[in-house]
Amino acid sequence: MTDLPVFVNGAADGTVNSADRGLHYGHGLFETMRLCGGTLPLWDWHWSRLCRGTAALGIPLDRETVWNDVRRACSQWPADGVIKLMVTAGSGGMAYRHDGGPCNRYLFYRPLPVPRDFIHLRVCDYRLPVNPRLAGLKHLNRLDQVLAANELPPDRDGLLLDTEGRVIEGLAGNLFLRTADGWLTPDLGGAGVRGVMRDYLLAEIFPALGLAVRETGVALSQVHAARELFLCNAVRGIQAVTAIDGSDHPLAADEIRRIKTELARRLPCFAA
Ligand SMILES: Cc1ncc(COP(=O)(O)O)c(C=O)c1O
Repeated sequence: MTDLPVFVNGAADGTVNSADRGLHYGHGLFETMRLCGGTLPLWDWHWSRLCRGTAALGIPLDRETVWNDVRRACSQWPADGVIKLMVTAGSGGMAYRHDGGPCNRYLFYRPLPVPRDFIHLRVCDYRLPVNPRLAGLKHLNRLDQVLAANELPPDRDGLLLDTEGRVIEGLAGNLFLRTADGWLTPDLGGAGVRGVMRDYLLAEIFPALGLAVRETGVALSQVHAARELFLCNAVRGIQAVTAIDGSDHPLAADEIRRIKTELARRLPCFAA
């Protein structure tokens, strides 16, 4: 990774505290947000997930303080790109024991990633652990994704299952699939990140199109038999999966096109 412009606790020239609990224990959370024309179109959704995370990890956080940081940083950075907000449990406490002291706030900027024309999925051997207490959160411990990524050649994206054999998500995005029974997305009660884009599609886009979608357990055989598949996240939006190792039929994208069009109508930055 290269050095990124960073704001620490609201200061452009702030430094990372060597006692930060995020560094030592992964005791913190992050949001990776699409910056579009100087605004963060999904800010409210990111904030909601962050609050679920801070409540679960016991990190005090004040919306106005974070929003002021974001505004100050955005005024100094390019109008388009990606902003990563990281909130850690601060630098206090006795080893693992947290003293509930003030959090540390970090903001990083990076340019938009190069768009990808296709996604070819491979099922990773690495399995996600089942842990309902942490499931859904975007916490700083991402060793599962690091180990899964180590298995993948550059031209493949990963599909991750949990230790019970249920399909959970992509390496860095949530999964939706159109089966003979309609649209499904994996239930994330035991593992996986509850993506902001996934929440937005479930709450806004599928209902607007009159498309039913179920959050449910998904088996790998259903993925292999799917008619359409896509991955989504809050930076790249929706990306159709064009192939999956082990499947012998071509994937369609007819309804995915409708879903993408509706998303782009409401949030034009996701048009590409
Ligand atoms: C493991 C994982 N799951 C899901 C997502 C999708 O989350 P979001 O829609 O909030 O970007 C991400 C995003 O980076 C991720 O890393």
